[in-house]
Amino acid sequence: MIRKKLRAVSLAILLIASGTMISGLKAASNGVAHHVSPQIANPPSPKKAEEQFKNIQVLKGIPAEQLLPTMQFVASSLGVTCEYCHVKNAFEKDEKETKKTARKMMEMMFTINQENFNGRRDVTCYSCHRGNAKPVAIPAVMTDDSAMAAAMPHGAPAETKASESKANNAKEAAGPTPEQLLDKYVQAVGGSAAIDKVTSRVMKGTIEFGGQSVPIDIYAKDPDMRISFTHMPGGESITAFNGHEGWLGTPGHPPHFMQGSEIDAASIDADLHLATHLKRMFTKMAVEGTERIGDHDAYVLLGERDVKPPIRLYFDEKSGLLLRLVRYGETALGWLPTQIDYADYRNTNGVEVPYRWTLARPNGRFTIQLSELQQNVPVDDAKFAKPAPPEGPAK
Ligand code: HEC
Ligand code: HEC
Repeated sequence: MIRKKLRAVSLAILLIASGTMISGLKAASNGVAHHVSPQIANPPSPKKAEEQFKNIQVLKGIPAEQLLPTMQFVASSLGVTCEYCHVKNAFEKDEKETKKTARKMMEMMFTINQENFNGRRDVTCYSCHRGNAKPVAIPAVMTDDSAMAAAMPHGAPAETKASESKANNAKEAAGPTPEQLLDKYVQAVGGSAAIDKVTSRVMKGTIEFGGQSVPIDIYAKDPDMRISFTHMPGGESITAFNGHEGWLGTPGHPPHFMQGSEIDAASIDADLHLATHLKRMFTKMAVEGTERIGDHDAYVLLGERDVKPPIRLYFDEKSGLLLRLVRYGETALGWLPTQIDYADYRNTNGVEVPYRWTLARPNGRFTIQLSELQQNVPVDDAKFAKPAPPEGPAK
């Protein structure tokens, strides 16, 4: 039953522009945002994992809402599905050896970080497993002659490498400051006055995933309201955020109310004035260097936030526009990344708006291509009305 449900929601999951991927196991949620990391106990303290689930031995004390994202982190790190460790429909059972090993591995990971990295999560399941159930202990031999050629131009590999990295550092040192990058971005979009004038955006297009392409309508309204309707053959899927609360709707299922990192992600996506809000979102900023994205060179800016995980922004060196945003969902073991690539910028009412974006996570990706976009048209607040919460626990 749970498995079926998980599969059914996996579509909705794929469509959501938020952090948490598993919504099939309905967590008892009051829909209130708890931006709380495991180390910080804020009143009212959120429900703990062991209070909501039946057999929690190692992950005691983490917020219940983080259990499923944590499981997603584990599955992605090992490149396996839930059944690799779990008995179908009985997640609390300890019948599989792999589940017991995973508990030991969690303890091991905590110890490694405690004893070697001041408790920072520098080593996670992914550090060793890299998407495989069995980590590799022995370095691979060279399988391709071209790698050999690349490794030793002019027969002096080590020196060449060193001077290359020096060149990169020099470039970094001479590069723009975080403030300059953010200012240039605001200018590139059209300037703060033009950005702040946008009160609504109504979009039509298609969403492409897994070889399918279906129509999608998106309505966004200031402040921070956004709803998308994906017209699936079997009915309409909804992803919505009303400025405070978010929910996902799939035909034939009770709504899933967003929690924790999902709410954080949805609020970022819903912000029509994100470009002018970035500076005040961050408590600390640093330019990490440059990276190539497709045909563009981009400056990488790391913006740190209070309590919440940081955000990485990639600005086109030439145009100054945002090419990529990477945000992270909090879990008990590490961060789950969501990467959004923006493209096809077009000028609409004096502001540059991406008409295409691709959202990718460890377990899925989709691309939205807009065909129509209107700004500052009336959008009724009723569009963002919250559905009634489901009665009792979901089946
Ligand atoms: C590599 C092994 C592994 C994988 C893969 C895995 N889990 Fe887990 N899961 C565990 C372990 C270990 C625990 C118990 C943690 C503890 O004792 O603190 C657990 C606990 C749970 C629980 C709590 C059950 C209860 O009532 O006590 C749920 C629910 C769960 N996992 C769901 C999932 C889902 C959904 C997936 C797939 C996305 C998944 N798990 C993938 C190892 C795994
Ligand atoms: C320091 C490296 C390291 C870290 C960190 C690590 N593992 Fe492992 N893991 C291993 C090694 C090595 C094995 C043994 C592989 C073998 O038996 O060949 C293993 C085996 C496992 C297995 C059993 C695989 C099988 O099929 O028998 C599971 C399950 C597992 N790890 C889960 C995890 C989880 C979950 C985490 C994060 C909490 C984690 N590991 C973190 C190194 C690591």
